[in-house]
Amino acid sequence: MVYLDNAATSWPKPEEVYLAVDHFMREIGASPGRSGHSLSIEAGRILFETREAVANLFGITDSSRIIFTLNATEALNLGIKGILTPGDHVITTSMEHNSVSRPLRFLEKEIGIETTAIPCSKEGHLDPGKLESAIRPNTRLIVIVHASNVTGAIMPVAQIGRLANDHNIPFMVDAAQTAGVYPIDVEEMKIDLLAFTGHKGMLGPQGTGGLYIREGLILKPLLQGGTGSKSEEEDQPAFTPDRYESGTHNTPGLAGLGAGVRFILKEGIDKIREKEKRLLARLLSGLEGMEQVKIYGPKDPNRQTALVSINIEGIDSSTVGYILSENFKIMTRVGLHCAPSAHRTIGTFPGGTVRFSLGYFNTEDQIDYTINSIQGIDHRFGHSNRKWEIRKWEVS
Ligand SMILES: Cc1ncc(COP(=O)(O)O)c(C=O)c1O
Repeated sequence: MVYLDNAATSWPKPEEVYLAVDHFMREIGASPGRSGHSLSIEAGRILFETREAVANLFGITDSSRIIFTLNATEALNLGIKGILTPGDHVITTSMEHNSVSRPLRFLEKEIGIETTAIPCSKEGHLDPGKLESAIRPNTRLIVIVHASNVTGAIMPVAQIGRLANDHNIPFMVDAAQTAGVYPIDVEEMKIDLLAFTGHKGMLGPQGTGGLYIREGLILKPLLQGGTGSKSEEEDQPAFTPDRYESGTHNTPGLAGLGAGVRFILKEGIDKIREKEKRLLARLLSGLEGMEQVKIYGPKDPNRQTALVSINIEGIDSSTVGYILSENFKIMTRVGLHCAPSAHRTIGTFPGGTVRFSLGYFNTEDQIDYTINSIQGIDHRFGHSNRKWEIRKWEVS
């Protein structure tokens, strides 16, 4: 079995992650920050260590500015809905995931914000000049994806961060596809709000993620409730992270996330990135010679994360994904990848693409096997839409 769906969620995880979740569930189990007993204190310590590891990964000096959420979607909602008020203008791009574009659309209808989505190139790249000329006096937020989950195209985040900073506009980055696999430094990149998910490149379990909020930015919380702190007060505590973290945490998941991030720090993010680039280059060069295969995106490992979107002429993406899974045991993701506007940008709406997303634990042999499998499909079906033959193959 070859797992090439790491952009959806990474798998497998480092052994340490399984052990950390198991250890928490069996040996600790208590609610962090709620009770004074030793198990609760230990649970609190695990949360703190995960916060510190994440802070270390992103160059964050005060780990209390990291708010744990269930995923990137919740973090993006917290940032977007927490900062925008009626009449505000937001700049974003045409490459966003629904987790950015839908909250913006919701606020457009609900409270009357205005959004400008800068059209990106066919590869999915953003021209910062276009972004700068869209700035208005009421622009209250710039929010962009760090790397597209459809083409892998990496955005010029540091350049946009400087630009946002020069204009005094809060800058939010959706790092769902880059956190853990590409270097991120919130100071160097001048990021005010960094939304990340724990279960992709950060190698943690599903149900983990977070939002970094720069010191001095005060958001409206999504939730109010129990924090284990200031219980005598009726109002939500004002300090971070408690202002934004209500209710018992996903502590088993966050224990696993801590282990995943410590694994990344131990291996070194540059080593991880280099290996993923090597695997990507191998896949790209294998695909490039295939007559009926169309590759989307930059086709350059230096300008994209380790994923490739393709189509095989004459076969729809869902059929290719089905054959890959059923006949070759290769796991990919097909369709629109929750990013319809990105697919419109690259010209693949509504059919979508077949996405191969690589991870640190993939091997060169798996990439070669994948190339051969795609070649097999290409040769057999590429020239016409011979659906009957595909069906025959499916049942054989
Ligand atoms: C670019 C991008 N943003 C946001 C998300 C949402 O991540 P999550 O499902 O963890 O909320 C994803 C995940 O598919 C993504 O690829």
